Amino acid sequence: MSTLRRTTIVTAAACLALAGGTVAVAASPVTGLHPTPGGTWAGDPYFPALGATGYDALTYHLDLDYEPVDASSGTLDATSTMTFRATKTLSSFNLDLRGLEVSSVRVNGLRATFTHVDGELIVTPRLPLLARLPVVVTVEYGGTTGRPRDIEDSLYGWVSTADGAMVVNEPDGAPTWFPVNDDPNDKAIYTFRITVPEGKTAVANGLPIGQPRTRDGKTTFRWFEPSPMASYLTTASIGDFDITTTRTEDGLPIIDAIDRDVTAANRTTSEASLAKQADMIAFFSEHFGPYPFTSAGAIVDDDTVGYALETQSRAVYSRVASEGTVAHEIAHQWYGNTVSPHRWADIWLNEGFATYAAWMWGEHTGGQTVEARAAAVYATPATSPFWSTVVADPGATGLFASAVYSRGALTLHELQQEIGEDDFAALLKAWPKERRNATGSTSDFIALAERISGQDLGAFFDAWVYTGTKPTTW
Ligand code: TRP
Ligand code: ZN
Repeated sequence: MSTLRRTTIVTAAACLALAGGTVAVAASPVTGLHPTPGGTWAGDPYFPALGATGYDALTYHLDLDYEPVDASSGTLDATSTMTFRATKTLSSFNLDLRGLEVSSVRVNGLRATFTHVDGELIVTPRLPLLARLPVVVTVEYGGTTGRPRDIEDSLYGWVSTADGAMVVNEPDGAPTWFPVNDDPNDKAIYTFRITVPEGKTAVANGLPIGQPRTRDGKTTFRWFEPSPMASYLTTASIGDFDITTTRTEDGLPIIDAIDRDVTAANRTTSEASLAKQADMIAFFSEHFGPYPFTSAGAIVDDDTVGYALETQSRAVYSRVASEGTVAHEIAHQWYGNTVSPHRWADIWLNEGFATYAAWMWGEHTGGQTVEARAAAVYATPATSPFWSTVVADPGATGLFASAVYSRGALTLHELQQEIGEDDFAALLKAWPKERRNATGSTSDFIALAERISGQDLGAFFDAWVYTGTKPTTW
């Protein structure tokens, strides 16, 4: 979904093509109508095969039927229906999908040919797809799921568990369970229809649609996330969950799912932290602007993934949701989810902000001050390898390096000193507001900080985010 307004005028020729008419596209005298293949890379230097170009994804409807097999595998039988708008006239286009088999692809209802090699599903429709034309792509696929690992060897994607699956895709795990333009710049609207063995519960982003339905030993859950979402923020987690729904004073639904198999101590800790979500949302709304989505909540799974993820509107936690982590994941709804990184090198705009926000929550609730937390990070000796991370370019294997989090947060604290409390407060609100449902880069953020403060911040950001040494002067 592009944030630019796009014309919805569909030409007569396009309508004919959509209807399966024989339009002599190749013979057209109009330049720009000549069909060419869509690109197989969205352009992120850290992930050279990820994403696609030539179209703008609008919606994904994921219809998933999942059965756990054992503690580390399951079977997935799925149909994805996506819509996109071609941004040029396409002879073919591609989607990312790894580790599952495709049985058929239809484009606008017509069977299409495809190749599926090294995670690239390249689809050649029967007819070329004219620029600006809306397109419906239906992919039938499935196979055996396992426990995928990311470039740093952390579990991610569709992680099969004994009682279902914990689904956390950052950065490039979405293609382990659906065919996708895996590019945070191409956000879309998602609906989910998830069928599981009776007794299991499936929880995705957003709001439930209707009641679950059980038939022939299987239960189907439907979910809908109405705000545009980056693919890495999708989830469809399955387990032995108990669901509770509460509301904030403003009426925002908070839907929490806790696995019945977490230990009693972890359940107690998680319930206490999750009970603070409404207060956290109120506190962050005051500082960051209105909560950007139409639901909130948590999924606490009994698993071994070992980290939490800020999946849109409903974060996933591994075994326990501690208060600091809940504050961090809720803050990501503003910093990371409504405004997402333009490139993965911009990840500090997610992690630095979420870390800083959790410091704010800690101070607000009587813990250490932001000042003290910042001072503790700055006290790290200059000789420590900690300072060698270039925060705004940590490398594909350094996305979650500790400096991305804590030097990122310290950078924000220092920026507050540099531009003053009022301008900094305005900046905290302006960033998610101006880039709502879109993405932003480090240079976009610097430009905004300079605009709000009227200061030249080049030397400041060079020292803090573009240099791999401890800043002493700037
Ligand atoms: N979810 C983490 C956060 O909120 C980030 C993350 C994604 C991560 N994948 C990871 C952390 C793998 C450690 C390892 O900050
Ligand atoms: Zn984070």
